[in-house]
Amino acid sequence: MKKRPSLEVNFCGVKFPNPFCLSSSPVGNTYDMVARAFDHGWGGAAFKTVGLDYEVKITHPSPRLNGYNFANHKVVGLQNVEQISDRTTTENFTDIARLKKNYPKHAVIASIMGLTHSQDWVELAKMAQDSGADMIECNFSCPQMTVEGTGHKVGQDAALIETLTKLTKSGCSIPVMAKMTPNVADMLPMALGAKAGGADAISAINTVRAISAVDIFNYVPMPTVGQKGSVSGFSGAAVKPIALRFVSELASDPRLQLPISAMGGLYTWMDAVEFLLLGATTLQCTTAVMHHGYRIVEDMNEGLEDYLADRGFQSVHDIIGLALTNVTDPNGLTHKTQAISLIDKDKCVGCGQCLLACRDGGAQAITLDPRRKAVVDENECFGCLMCKHICPVEDCITYKTVPHHLAHLATA
Ligand SMILES: Cc1cc2nc3c(=O)[nH]c(=O)nc-3n(C[C@H](O)[C@H](O)[C@H](O)COP(=O)(O)O)c2cc1C
Repeated sequence: MKKRPSLEVNFCGVKFPNPFCLSSSPVGNTYDMVARAFDHGWGGAAFKTVGLDYEVKITHPSPRLNGYNFANHKVVGLQNVEQISDRTTTENFTDIARLKKNYPKHAVIASIMGLTHSQDWVELAKMAQDSGADMIECNFSCPQMTVEGTGHKVGQDAALIETLTKLTKSGCSIPVMAKMTPNVADMLPMALGAKAGGADAISAINTVRAISAVDIFNYVPMPTVGQKGSVSGFSGAAVKPIALRFVSELASDPRLQLPISAMGGLYTWMDAVEFLLLGATTLQCTTAVMHHGYRIVEDMNEGLEDYLADRGFQSVHDIIGLALTNVTDPNGLTHKTQAISLIDKDKCVGCGQCLLACRDGGAQAITLDPRRKAVVDENECFGCLMCKHICPVEDCITYKTVPHHLAHLATA
């Protein structure tokens, strides 16, 4: 029988039994939670961010979440106003030590955040190492920290990232990963700051600053706490395209060359493959777990293994970054060819949605024949393919590629 591919990954010297990790958040809040996640098949976990508790007491606003729903889909995005862990430093590191003792083959990442002094980072790094954590993730990126001098503003300052990464490195010898905020126009300078400070890896993305909804009867953004709402972190499926973009930008820049742990909207093994193809090595997840529970990793492991086996790959490492050479600036896209929609009349159910899309937002190339089957005028179709994207019937609308009718004018 043919050998099954290996899901094991080596991430800056740390072995993960598979690339799937809990990201730092309520899904990795306690020993019991993470132990249960490991039992379900997660390869690693970034524990909920730990700070030093002797100077600042962390509390959370309540309610702390708002689900962003679209049409019939619940929680396609999630806004939260949660802070870092409200448990004591000792409780958290005791849990991490117990996890490492009972699950030595799983990867445990201590997520840390200095609160009041830059020396906090050194102290926390030492405590993380002493607890037996395999690596550290520096949280430079929480968008709603209320303690001044913490959170995503740190993550917008490349020089500060460099300094704090250096301090963290000075307190430990285990690998240090810097977690980036997407609340920047360009993440690369921030990641390069982390590299200059000695970071061994980059993780991205933390949550996107957003207002997910407004209560239109009380005139307050959600989640409404008392009579107020605020701009705060947004996660889940809705942010995946943003996360894919940042991951590909980090992975493709020759100046960075650091392993990447990706997160932001990862729900399925197919999402996982996309992140891997764009250069990630490990994959983290919160919102999908908050929605569906730890068990989703079982499908992720099985789906990824089957994907690798079907394509003859032996290891996750074989596919990391395979799509990167196909990512280009828009000006690298050819203008010499164009698509023409093709409609399978046997599959067309005559709903007319493609007609509306084409008429009011496209080329006015679609009509319905007397049997209400969609027909494309190939001379008018300019290949935007909105009809294909909205068609409710799988594979009813495909397309062919032909020379662009203005190919003689195209420069690319
Ligand atoms: C309720 C909540 C709390 C979070 N707390 C933390 C945290 O303490 N530290 C951290 O680095 N990221 C935190 N995050 C961000 C997640 O780790 C992750 O970066 C983000 O949610 C994107 O991944 P996702 O779309 O899979 O949720 C939190 C996210 C949520 C939803």
